[in-house]
Amino acid sequence: MTMPARVHLIAAARPNFMKVAPLWHALAAAPDFTPVLVHTGQHYDANMSDAIFADLRLPAPDHHLGVGSGTHAEQTGRVMIAYEAVAMADRPDWLIVVGDVNSTAACALVGTKLGIPTVHLEAGLRSRDRAMPEELNRLMTDVLADVLWTPSPDADANLAAEGIPPARVTRVGNIMMDAFELTRPAIMAADYPAALGFTPGGYGVVTLHRPSNVDDPAQLARLVAALEQAQARLPLVFPVHPRTAARLATAGLDTRLAAAGVRLVAPAPYVRFMSLVTQAAAVITDSGGIQEETTYLGIPCLTLRENTERPITISEGTSRLVQVGDLVATLVSALAEPRSQRRRPDRWDGRTAARCLADLRARTAGAASAAA
Ligand code: UD1
Repeated sequence: MTMPARVHLIAAARPNFMKVAPLWHALAAAPDFTPVLVHTGQHYDANMSDAIFADLRLPAPDHHLGVGSGTHAEQTGRVMIAYEAVAMADRPDWLIVVGDVNSTAACALVGTKLGIPTVHLEAGLRSRDRAMPEELNRLMTDVLADVLWTPSPDADANLAAEGIPPARVTRVGNIMMDAFELTRPAIMAADYPAALGFTPGGYGVVTLHRPSNVDDPAQLARLVAALEQAQARLPLVFPVHPRTAARLATAGLDTRLAAAGVRLVAPAPYVRFMSLVTQAAAVITDSGGIQEETTYLGIPCLTLRENTERPITISEGTSRLVQVGDLVATLVSALAEPRSQRRRPDRWDGRTAARCLADLRARTAGAASAAA
């Protein structure tokens, strides 16, 4: 009998964990694979990491690299050095990196240089905004990885336009929906909104963490003023990312939001956060993943960005791009719109992890017959 193939799964930051979890569970249940979970330590706060692992029923990582925060080069460099040692000692049959954080690009570079077959899950997304660190991470990871797993046809088209051979690409769908379906009972049971004193449909959820929104004091002040006005229309709850918490506190804007009635709470782990989203009247965010989750759930999403690498959440989903000056008017019109019949993009169905495994098996068999 052949040995199960060892698969390194890289988890680094909050948005990675919900992409890694469905794959980990699928690989762990398969006799022909052994998942090896590597946490780079890019996110390390309990609410940003450990509590989300618990929500997603992920075990403690097999390897924890403990890289922590730093400048982009410091963080990327520390991940590369630490992951190279693990990869050289462990020599996995496959490496899977997910999303677009610094650890994603760092591990893809390490893995491909060591000749480890490397897969990128959530490949092909493009905002065409090179001021976004994630866009540079996406470009680098897709050019390096041997196999590109895409969520949507726009991603396939982006890769084709960049000259990537179609044989490297498989459209597996959106793994975030697998994470939601995996934890749906816990999400439905959590009822975090009630614990905060909100009724279903009686509030909005805010998240902000992009450097373009929170690192520029003038932009942050404009956003806070717009949220104060929005709060007068719809009570808001705002789980605050650590980066944003630091910027708000420095500018004294956290007390202003609280005085206006906005509920500032700690970053919510996955189940609590999704419990907030599922009952919300609307979501205001600059996150990538939340544009997808609201599309899946049919909840209006006001995306505070100039562009999105996820255009399908606009063309087929519930998201719209808004500028800070239009936030209140857009919120009012979004709340007045009749809830349209929700449309779910093709292959956003909770079965993406199964497609990933089928693709790994097909590619393993293809490589074996090519070698024979
Ligand atoms: C990272 C990702 C971003 C993702 C986001 C989700 C990159 C380039 N960015 O941005 O794509 O959308 O995660 O959260 O990889 N901090 C803590 N505790 C933590 C983590 C961070 O206090 O557990 C603080 C640190 O002071 C750090 C700051 O937050 O300086 C920003 O963290 P960092 O990991 O650099 O980037 P994010 O903004 O979280």
